[in-house]
Amino acid sequence: MSVSVLVGSQWGDEGKGKIVDILSNRYEIVARYQGGANAGHTIQIGDQQFILHLIPSGILRENVICVIGNGVVVDPQALLNEIKFLEDHDINIKGRLFISQNAHLIMPYHKLLDSISEKGSQKIGTTGRGIGPCYIDKYARKGIKIVDLLNKNELEKKIRRNLEEKNNLLRKVYDHEELDVEKIIKEYLAFDEAIDQYITDVPEYLNNAISEGKSVLLEGAQGALLDVDYGTYPYVTSSNPTSGGACTGTGIPPTKITDVIGIVKAYTTRVGNGPFPTELTDDSGENLRKWGAEFGATTGRPRRCGWFDAFLVKYSCMINGISKVAITKLDVLSNFDEIKVCTGYEYNGKKLKSFPADACILENVKPIYVALKGWKKDITNITSFEDLPAETKEYLTFITEQCGFEISIISVGPRRKQTIEL
Ligand code: GDP
Ligand code: IMO
Ligand code: MG
Repeated sequence: MSVSVLVGSQWGDEGKGKIVDILSNRYEIVARYQGGANAGHTIQIGDQQFILHLIPSGILRENVICVIGNGVVVDPQALLNEIKFLEDHDINIKGRLFISQNAHLIMPYHKLLDSISEKGSQKIGTTGRGIGPCYIDKYARKGIKIVDLLNKNELEKKIRRNLEEKNNLLRKVYDHEELDVEKIIKEYLAFDEAIDQYITDVPEYLNNAISEGKSVLLEGAQGALLDVDYGTYPYVTSSNPTSGGACTGTGIPPTKITDVIGIVKAYTTRVGNGPFPTELTDDSGENLRKWGAEFGATTGRPRRCGWFDAFLVKYSCMINGISKVAITKLDVLSNFDEIKVCTGYEYNGKKLKSFPADACILENVKPIYVALKGWKKDITNITSFEDLPAETKEYLTFITEQCGFEISIISVGPRRKQTIEL
């Protein structure tokens, strides 16, 4: 019986969707614990590409039950669109999807405030999915939860109360036209009918399942460096993608977690603004983007690309308690003559001892690089570690030593069969 947490170890888009899909045939339940439709988790099955934003990536395995935990912020329309997309592709959802009563709802004003507040020098480059404003309301104790859909009077009262405040804000601070209260009430009252069937007491369900010996995989969205507490603040998302968030976001206590799996991309990418010490703005960066097809799965934005940052991943392993990792997108490095790895940062002429908390410092650090020889061979059809080129093994050994992790999976392409298990 395992209760595993799967976390993105960098700035998101590490290939979590693919690895969850690979691992989920060993788990009875896959649960998302934070974030919302800002996530874009891709699973490639044959010629069909599935991009999931809210529903856990285990949904493509027909025997797996999927759960959306209380830590997730749910856009009901995005959820219904995703259910329809899956049903249109003959994926049966009935009896396989549960949503926590305590998850908060993304409201139209969250999405609007997300986009109109993104101005000036502190623009984060959010996905515009209303994530930050929804978590703000949650912590300000003004949020509307999934459970509120079950009580029409209470739901209407809460929407009216919130809209009075939000419309004031829109008019007076943002000089924006007000939102139509009656329209939003009508729209949200109607969600009850479609979503009711999925609403569940998730902590009770998950803890009972674990007591019965079932295995659970907790799927994180985003990545550790986008964590609101441990990431490159303020250029972060508004939740805790790090492993601790898996407990508060599902109701599974820390004593029941058995292991933490880190998803580690063989180089580094980031979407949106914020410091990125190993970013490449030259041809190498352009090649990583091209060969890795590094364009956002949610917004389509080009991802910023750079060399592997072992100093950053080592920090990520520490705060997440990562025991094993899956290295993804190793094939993307196959065309380089030389591959660099950042082993530390220099700031004001001194080598930093630990990952800096101040984004202004991180913006100005100088990465210390070690150059390794590239392998210049196609590895996308290799299925065993032994068959990898010597230089590929050297690269893996080097990053393993630098970060102090243990590799259990190597991904050499987006498809299921392009996976080497150790
Ligand atoms: P996630 O958000 O962490 O689930 O990652 P995304 O789905 O946003 O981005 C990962 C992208 O890389 C997707 O397009 C995947 O299909 C693709 N991918 C995953 N693993 C591999 C791999 O090993 N090699 C290559 N070339 N592509 C991969
Ligand atoms: P997955 O789960 C990469 C980034 C946004 C922005 C910042 C804040 O696919 O790895 P938000 O909309 O969350 O308030 O935006 O976080 N971001 C992601 N970057 N992958 C993601 O998810 C992301 N989700 C949010 O680009 O910089
Ligand atoms: Mg993604």
